[in-house]
Amino acid sequence: MKRVFLLAHPAKHSVSAPMHNAAFKVLGIEAHYETLDVAPESLRDVVEGLRAPDVFGSNVTVPHKLAVFPLMDELSEAAKSVGAVNTIINKKGKLLGHNTDATGYVRALEEDGKFSLKDKKILLLGAGGAARAIVYAVLKAGCEKLAIYNRSQEKAQALVAEFAHLGRLEALSELTEMLITSDLVINSTSVGMEHNGIDPDESPLSQGLMPAHAFVSDIVYRPEKTRLLKDAEAAGLKFQNGLPMLIYQGAESFECWTGKKPPIDLMFAAAREALRS
Ligand code: ATR
Repeated sequence: MKRVFLLAHPAKHSVSAPMHNAAFKVLGIEAHYETLDVAPESLRDVVEGLRAPDVFGSNVTVPHKLAVFPLMDELSEAAKSVGAVNTIINKKGKLLGHNTDATGYVRALEEDGKFSLKDKKILLLGAGGAARAIVYAVLKAGCEKLAIYNRSQEKAQALVAEFAHLGRLEALSELTEMLITSDLVINSTSVGMEHNGIDPDESPLSQGLMPAHAFVSDIVYRPEKTRLLKDAEAAGLKFQNGLPMLIYQGAESFECWTGKKPPIDLMFAAAREALRS
């Protein structure tokens, strides 16, 4: 029996475990995915344990996505560019740190949302950890222009400086013009997320502000429809929540570990069931 882990702290109710375990089962792969609560002081030992021959690798989430960097033998281009590792692959005892959030986001938009990023004008709300993979993803996918708006403007400016070599991007001090001209508006802030101490009925766009024609993408998937997505729906805009991104980043990690493409529909079904329970 092979093993895969999610390294998290604290270990919350995971959607990843049921979705990967369902895919292992249907493909007849003898493997089990399990969430581990890893305190920062235990991270080095736990990562060392991933070199064992019966371990495919792991996913990595908050707060360890940066801390695992120096523990890797090798880093993929995506991990280096995004500045975070969300997937570790055990290659015969050597550990490769990789990032599947960016490609997962692009596939989610293109395959599930039927939205192509090529030559599009994009407005990104938020400039935290989750924003980094999205900035890298949309610039690599050939968008025409990316504008970043964040409550703390200096963080948006820092992202712009870091990723300027990949395409046309700017930090905004106000939203109005980009809301009118954008083809895609993305929420990467935690506003709207359940149980994060913010009013769950809050939107990252202040009242009365809505894109004119954009597709609206929210990386939050709990709740299924945030205030932002409810408002987008009411305005007749197309929208997508964060679940497809979670599925597609997981699908690429699965393929890295096993060499096999997992069934996407089954992963969606398992994730939705886990979210309901
Ligand atoms: P994550 O890894 O989920 O991106 P993070 O790095 O803490 O978490 O970033 C959270 C993002 O949500 C940031 O862009 C943050 O804005 P600040 O940089 O100004 O803190 C944004 N955010 C969180 N709460 C917010 C709120 N109430 N209103 C607006 N933006 C908020």
